[in-house]
Amino acid sequence: MSLNLRSVGILGTGMCLPEKVLTNMDLEKMVDTSDEWIRTRTGIVERRIADPHTPTSVLAEKAARMALENARIKAQNIGLIIVATVTPDMVFPATACLVQDRLGATSAAAFDLEAGCSGFIYALASGAQFVASGIYDYVLVIGAETLSRIVNWEDRNTCVLFGDGAGAVVLGPVPEGYGILGMDLGSDGGGADLLDVPAGGSLNPASEYTVKNKLHFLRMNGNEVFKFAVRIIGDSALRALSSAGLEKENIDFLIPHQANIRIIQSALKRLKISEEKVYVNLDRYGNTSAASVPIALHEAYREGLIKKDNIVVLVAFGAGLTWGAAVIRWSADI
Ligand code: UT7
Repeated sequence: MSLNLRSVGILGTGMCLPEKVLTNMDLEKMVDTSDEWIRTRTGIVERRIADPHTPTSVLAEKAARMALENARIKAQNIGLIIVATVTPDMVFPATACLVQDRLGATSAAAFDLEAGCSGFIYALASGAQFVASGIYDYVLVIGAETLSRIVNWEDRNTCVLFGDGAGAVVLGPVPEGYGILGMDLGSDGGGADLLDVPAGGSLNPASEYTVKNKLHFLRMNGNEVFKFAVRIIGDSALRALSSAGLEKENIDFLIPHQANIRIIQSALKRLKISEEKVYVNLDRYGNTSAASVPIALHEAYREGLIKKDNIVVLVAFGAGLTWGAAVIRWSADI
């Protein structure tokens, strides 16, 4: 069988952030922490929190509408919607189906994808295959989270780190030589227990016991995840570059997962690139898991930091353990 694959690129980006800001100072009143500790250990200053009536699908829908508008593509022309999330509205149906309905994307298939904070890169890689093969012309890829719903607000080790938000991109055919040039995806389920929500699934269904023992909240071994992240963020970016026939010297702009400024700094060192070539917004939004890369990509693009022909590297790591990187030759003009 011969495959004539099309080049696939990002035609438009969008994002949605809840209005409510939760500062480090606010957290000082909630748990035994300090603004100084959070800033120096993570780089985070504040994060956004969705109001109790706003589920993940609403943030996803708003980010998607903006991406569609910027790409000048109608919802009816979308062939597939993928929502990467660890905080779906419900166990099922898929949040992507709720978004499909509200957008009026009547021709779209829809599914959710769960790969922790790497979810957006996994969804981008998956969606791109459908465009490359010619099965669909346009695919909507969304990373959306309301992590505030699964964070234990009494646990200072985790509650200071996360925030809510959504980012989206529209994928479509681009001229040859542009778009996604290389990829790296990986997993290590041996580290599954380093970052998890243990209850609510088939292993530990919801019960009085699981609620009493706070097993529906996110748990994390921060030190181990940190060590993994520092190692993998550079490795994965380099593998993706190599799959595109490129080297670290070719990077024009890096969009890393926004978890911790120290992890991002380690990537800079490893990839030998300067701070001006890296987008950081974790100070304003904290770690928004699967939403972090598309939000950062949208902001960097709208701020004019990413230009046509630039080699842009997206890289993320997260629960699973999972990791992923994508190398893109930017094709869209502002
Ligand atoms: O998207 C992927 C998900 N997660 C991540 O990427 C997170 C990766 N890990 C990290 O970013 C870091 O490991 C953390 C920010 C979570 C922790 O930073 P750390 O420098 O590794 O601190 P630590 O865990 O070694 O804790 C140092 C101390 C401990 O006190 P003792 O045992 O030394 O007395 C903690 O109890 O800091 C304490 N601590 C805090 N103190 C004030 C932990 N959290 C807090 C807090 N405020 N919020």
